[in-house]
Amino acid sequence: MKAFSLAAVCLSALFIAGCGGSDNDAAPAQPQVIAHRGASGYLPEHTLGGYELAIRMGADFIEPDLQITKDGALVAIHDDTLNRTTNVATLFAQRNGGYKVSDFTLAEIKTLTVVPTSTGKTSYPGFTPSAASPFTVPTFQEVVDFAKKQSNAVGREVGIYPEAKQADPVMEDGILKTLAANGYNANSKIYIQSFSDATLRSLRTKQIAQNNKMPLVLLGVATAAADGTPRMGVTGATGVQMLALKDVAAFNEGVGVLINNTTYPVTKAFIDQAHAAGLKVHGWTFAQTDAALAAAEFRKYLDMGMDGMFANYPDLAVTARNAYVQGK
Ligand code: G3P
Ligand code: CA
Repeated sequence: MKAFSLAAVCLSALFIAGCGGSDNDAAPAQPQVIAHRGASGYLPEHTLGGYELAIRMGADFIEPDLQITKDGALVAIHDDTLNRTTNVATLFAQRNGGYKVSDFTLAEIKTLTVVPTSTGKTSYPGFTPSAASPFTVPTFQEVVDFAKKQSNAVGREVGIYPEAKQADPVMEDGILKTLAANGYNANSKIYIQSFSDATLRSLRTKQIAQNNKMPLVLLGVATAAADGTPRMGVTGATGVQMLALKDVAAFNEGVGVLINNTTYPVTKAFIDQAHAAGLKVHGWTFAQTDAALAAAEFRKYLDMGMDGMFANYPDLAVTARNAYVQGK
């Protein structure tokens, strides 16, 4: 959590990661740093300003959570309501607390300012955002455009990791259509994620029909059957449903699992079995603010074989990942 140094971070990123490589290339990939909601520990979450800081800190992926507006646009925002992360209650006080994203048009949402949450602030030392409106709610297309622009600026491919926050065909079609229109395919630096296995099964069916199988990631918890066999736990209306990892691999390229949970601990056995099934394993959410404690936490999961980390403080994740790779 030190003052930002663009030159140092870019040099580090180029030396460690190479230039323009993809996590889906044939060459073995190093563990990936996924900027969770952007550099959300430092700047307002899901904003171009926050994504840019994460990229400048060396993140491999930016992570837009997606919701659907009243007029059908996909926008990057975590909640299905606007009040936690924007000034909607001030600008639309007459709505009297009804702040669902799906009740607002894109034009209305574009008038809002995204505000910091938790440890976030409105600025970061030494960092000036390049976007004209760095702290408004971006559309998914704007995030894609920004990732491409930033890839050129930093000389490496910035991946995107969109999450379908609604189990809705409009969401599925919007994600696939936007990505295909922008040239993304199975070899791109892209993961599409969801907590809904039904959404991912539907996405895979549509991808097969479109001959464009961009990688999918099922989110949930690491769990185990009664005999100890690792299972993927997916939360549904009836509680946690356990799926065999080989069955998850039939329609996904990876799993994203909750870390630091005593009921559902991520184990080396789980990661080994996932790898044996052909699945990447990514963990969420690395949110430790203390640099030394964060380094130990990253190391713990990297030593187990984790392939990617969703991190609120991408600089701490990049530092830990680079130390890990260099020490191997
Ligand atoms: O997508 C992985 C992680 O971001 C899930 O948590 O609630 O921040 O989307 P959430
Ligand atoms: Ca997410």
